[in-house]
Amino acid sequence: MIKSALQIAREAYQPKLPSSLKGAVKIVEGNKTESIADQAQIAEKFPNTYGMPILTFEEGEAKNFPAINVGVILSGGQAPGGHNVIAGIFDGLKKMNPESKLYGFLGGPSGLTDNEYQELTPEIINHYRNTGGFDIIGSGRTKLEETEQYDQGLANCKALGIQALVIIGGDDSNTNACVLAEYYKKSNSGIQVIGCPKTIDGDLKNEMIETSFGFDTACKVYSELIGNIQRDANSAKKYWHFIKLMGRSASHIGLECALQTQPNICIISEEVEEKKQTLKEIVKSIAEVVASRAEKGDNFGTVLIPEGLVEFIPEMKILMGELNDIMAHKEDEFSKIESKLEKREFVAGELSSDSVAVYDSLPNDIADQLIMDRDPHGNVQVSKIETEKLLIEMVESRLKKMRKKDKFAGKFAAQNHFFGYEGRCAAPSNFDADYCYSLGYTASILIGEGKTGYMASVRNTTKPADKWIAGGVPVTMMMNMERRHGEMKPVIQKALVELDAAPFKAFAAKRDDWAKNTKYVYPGPIQYFGPAEVCDAPTKTLALEQE
Ligand code: FBP
Repeated sequence: MIKSALQIAREAYQPKLPSSLKGAVKIVEGNKTESIADQAQIAEKFPNTYGMPILTFEEGEAKNFPAINVGVILSGGQAPGGHNVIAGIFDGLKKMNPESKLYGFLGGPSGLTDNEYQELTPEIINHYRNTGGFDIIGSGRTKLEETEQYDQGLANCKALGIQALVIIGGDDSNTNACVLAEYYKKSNSGIQVIGCPKTIDGDLKNEMIETSFGFDTACKVYSELIGNIQRDANSAKKYWHFIKLMGRSASHIGLECALQTQPNICIISEEVEEKKQTLKEIVKSIAEVVASRAEKGDNFGTVLIPEGLVEFIPEMKILMGELNDIMAHKEDEFSKIESKLEKREFVAGELSSDSVAVYDSLPNDIADQLIMDRDPHGNVQVSKIETEKLLIEMVESRLKKMRKKDKFAGKFAAQNHFFGYEGRCAAPSNFDADYCYSLGYTASILIGEGKTGYMASVRNTTKPADKWIAGGVPVTMMMNMERRHGEMKPVIQKALVELDAAPFKAFAAKRDDWAKNTKYVYPGPIQYFGPAEVCDAPTKTLALEQE
């Protein structure tokens, strides 16, 4: 591996740990827990792992732990800090017993079923400390949800003497980890399963999981880029920049970046849904801001657009639902059609009359993107829909009409951007480096104590790291029943932006001022060395939520 100067310097960074993890640990059990909803159904589905207590770690007395073999899996999209979770698990296990071993399953959950693995030694781990990426063992999106997969995984673990698995993933992967924990416990297989909360999207959070790892770093990277673009816009004063931000359905990334950079416009999908705003209304509101800034001679600005926006616009949501059904049920016929035009005509012939009107009103590129390949869940891949270009085109045509009516006399030249992959593998901020290492270390303690069906939890994260509260939260506690593929299933509830919570309120209180006046903030790049207020600050979302 060829290392950059920063990578070499960062290898020496020792992540900060909560004081309860610095020496021997005592586990304090709280009261029995309930799932957030649908208690009876979830208890029935998880008879062996439901209702377990919340666990909190405190400083304790040293004790002996037998050596144990553990397997680790990275699941889903990359998020900064994954390597530190693995380093934390490794160091925690070795501290409990130096004979313990850590195996990495390669390429995501499929590594477990296909028996692709590598033992992680200090020589390997040390190269990856405090680095971004998931390349130490790779990641993948295979879903573990069939009993054959569980049985194959069990056989592969037994062959390696593995007694515990750590699954590092988002809400779906942790839901599946919990089902796996229940299955292995029911069959007395002797395999424990522990989850870790990962995703840049920030939508795996609740009372016990304050934030998913990677959100901090990814938002800081995007905010740096947005700040740079805003400074360019404010210097040249000739472009409107339409910036789409990753995050899947939730707008947490957009909201956090808005709080950090104070753009002229930031659309929040959850608000669009709540207010049932149509595409036309969204375009109208953007065009009005463009026109009002033009009146002052400010023919420039920034618009932040959450990746999942189209799914929250009522008429688009209906259209996409119909398209998903057509693609699922007419796949054979559809796959035989070669030209884009004929594909569009085919689906248009199958849509309801309202949806045909919406579909026909879209530019061809967007209409094509809506009927591209589905993800493994059968849904449109929102990161591939160029909403930023759609909005530019529609705002431009609205401004032309406004010009004819003397309601717009300025200039409109737009640039489009999509920030997503740029931030997913960035070198973790100090927050993510510390948080991830603590999560991994916590997972190792849960394993040492024989726990299963728990997610590693580190709370109180807006305070200095030594005051963080580490422990375990039963995954069933975060679950409710949701319809998936036409069937009710127990799943971890996804956290979307709450319009009555502090982060959105802080944004809503300021946005009119940011729209009219140029109040840009330029956060600059993540700093790894220097004063704590520059290097260690958590996201504004987290600070406002925990205030
Ligand atoms: P996870 O939920 O698996 O962490 O993935 C997050 C994400 O980056 C989303 O923001 C984005 O929509 C998606 O992954 C992109 O997926 P892919 O990496 O397969 O292109």
